[in-house]
Amino acid sequence: MTGQESPLFAANWKMFKGPRATEAFVESFVSRYRPREDRRIAFFPPSISLEAFVRASADRPDLEVGIQDVHQEVEGAHTGAVSASMAVEAGAKWALAGHSERRREFGDDDAIVAVKTARALEAGLRPIVCIGETLEEREAGLLQPVLERQVREVLAAVPAPGLTWAYEPVWAIGTGLTASPADAEEAHGIVRSAIGAAAGPVFADAAVVLYGGSVKPGNIGELMAASGVNGVLVGGASLDPESFAAICGVALPAG
Ligand code: PGA
Repeated sequence: MTGQESPLFAANWKMFKGPRATEAFVESFVSRYRPREDRRIAFFPPSISLEAFVRASADRPDLEVGIQDVHQEVEGAHTGAVSASMAVEAGAKWALAGHSERRREFGDDDAIVAVKTARALEAGLRPIVCIGETLEEREAGLLQPVLERQVREVLAAVPAPGLTWAYEPVWAIGTGLTASPADAEEAHGIVRSAIGAAAGPVFADAAVVLYGGSVKPGNIGELMAASGVNGVLVGGASLDPESFAAICGVALPAG
């Protein structure tokens, strides 16, 4: 497994769980998942539930927290938006950037994703840059050029080593369709090569590349065994404490 940090298991709750449901989740999850040295866990609740998560998990520093999106400006008249520094103040350590739902519903294009990545880094957050092809792009044979473009646009604007990436094929998100381990290996190879081509081998070696898209207890083992997969970003199956604890507790491949 490349990527120099221990594998990351990230939970993207999307628009689920307000503060009370967040507290209930944490109470249940901590009884099912004990801290482990060989993996990292991060939760991305809705921003309104960030502080509830931090409070409820105060005695579990192994459970980190992040924000699902930050605005591309530092502050200003942007009703409904949240800045990176506000997320830090609420306890966030991580930030997603460019999730496919943000790209589709809110028009976050590669240039905006790059700026959001920069804002997150400047505020002291660790960004996870989400990339991935649509079904149409895949069927048109565009997997490689799409991933290369998404990687290049971010690294051209934000030449930071050690970024975390999440390869999430759009057709596998929330659909129950999962990329096969072979698909994931191919795409992760493309992502790592694209990072190398855009920024050099040191960046490619240091990059952490997660897989996301219908990850479940039943497929986590084979996905984590796929070459180049340094962790997962989990949506639906992270909403239930039992299923996310099963995912986080998977036996990791040796080496
Ligand atoms: P899913 O979502 O696990 O529900 O497919 C993954 C994601 O969107 O990050």
